[in-house]
Amino acid sequence: MKEATACPPDARGAADPAPLDLASLQALDRDLVWHPFTQARTAPPATAVRSARGAALTDFQGREILDLVSSWWVTLHGHGHPAIARAIARQAETLEQVIFAGFTHQPAVELCRRLTALLPGGLRRCFFSDNGSTAVEVALKMACQAWRNRGEPGRGRFLAFQGGYHGDTVGAMSAGVSSGYFKPWKRLLFPVDLLPAPATWLGDATAQAREDAALDQMERHLGRYGDRTAAAIIEPLVQGASGMRMHRPRFLRGAVERLRAKGVLVIFDEVMTGFGRLGALFGCLEAGIAPDLVCLSKGLTGGALPMALTITTDAVHEAFLDERMDMAFLHGHSFTANPLGCAAALASLDLLLDPACAAARARIERRHRAGLAPLVAAGPGASRLRIQGTIAAFQVAGPGRAARMRPWLLERGLLVRPLGSTLYLLPPYCITDGQLDRAYEGIAEGLACGFEP
Ligand SMILES: Cc1ncc(COP(=O)(O)O)c(C=O)c1O
Repeated sequence: MKEATACPPDARGAADPAPLDLASLQALDRDLVWHPFTQARTAPPATAVRSARGAALTDFQGREILDLVSSWWVTLHGHGHPAIARAIARQAETLEQVIFAGFTHQPAVELCRRLTALLPGGLRRCFFSDNGSTAVEVALKMACQAWRNRGEPGRGRFLAFQGGYHGDTVGAMSAGVSSGYFKPWKRLLFPVDLLPAPATWLGDATAQAREDAALDQMERHLGRYGDRTAAAIIEPLVQGASGMRMHRPRFLRGAVERLRAKGVLVIFDEVMTGFGRLGALFGCLEAGIAPDLVCLSKGLTGGALPMALTITTDAVHEAFLDERMDMAFLHGHSFTANPLGCAAALASLDLLLDPACAAARARIERRHRAGLAPLVAAGPGASRLRIQGTIAAFQVAGPGRAARMRPWLLERGLLVRPLGSTLYLLPPYCITDGQLDRAYEGIAEGLACGFEP
């Protein structure tokens, strides 16, 4: 029998698969692939993308499509960024993966050191996982076990805001149940107390009264259940998936004050809001609040590789320190702290901290204001404009009209994904003024078109 050989020293010569033509690729896709958030019976064929650079995708016909949603909110500095690509390639040559129980490596440690230096003071214990949903599961499980370990198992309730979305795994769905996405799985979910988050917009004169009413309601709720509540999970300042619903820092600070008064752990789900989306590096910094746990993912690696972190305080971490194994946090994923993801995240962080990136984010915000305010003011088709950092959103009048605009805009090379009647832009930071203007013009034209059913 031939002896098993080690890997060839250099497999770079391995042949690429033969390129498919568009028709074959789409036929195979239809036959074999199950796409997320897609009704396969009625969906048009998936757009086949050949490559991507900066803010633009290029499809199989060579057509350019502007990625106005940062490919599900992950792409920070643009597609195919050479610095991130080089960092991944370099890392792949030395250490591509290693078990993270009982082992460690420099990219992981370095990433934790650099990230914790950016976050508010107490947040310094870093737990890696794979995506936004797992970052949330980790936070919920940590909060639950921290109280059990502290000898307060009666603190078992969770609190969330109506309209919050936290991911698609079972715990995350439970916390995000009011986002309306999870009807088929209701029987899997655990109960979560829901309180209103008063969404506001530019020029809204009603915000303060609604905020005060919501804070009063929270106070009443906490008066009854506060000392039985383990944690509250909050998307700070912007509730993304339920329609870019924005609330003011004043409200968030009022809510956190009330939670703290009852000893409730505060979890900020910054899966979407982190890494500069709101202008400031993190929502917690924008609001001036230090939560007890923060969930990070999406922009963490600049959008290059899947990775997540749940970062908490020493006070939470200490509840897990004991001689007994079952007091430890017995949770982990195969690719925990994958070195390639860490290398990409470090390269992305360098780009994020470059003053040019802050300037680009400020430029996008200014451009949104100048480009969208007249468009929303112009007619009855659009209303309730809100802008926070690089995110802009408004309501499109008429049932189903925003959804009907989506394929029309795609035809014109603009990738948007309306959320119900909300049309929003969440572009990568490298997007140019010219590209933004192209987006505003396309949307203005679309709004003028009617799109009646
Ligand atoms: C605030 C928030 N939390 C969690 C998630 C889930 O992230 P993922 O899709 O990576 O599981 C999302 C995804 O959109 C999100 O917006």
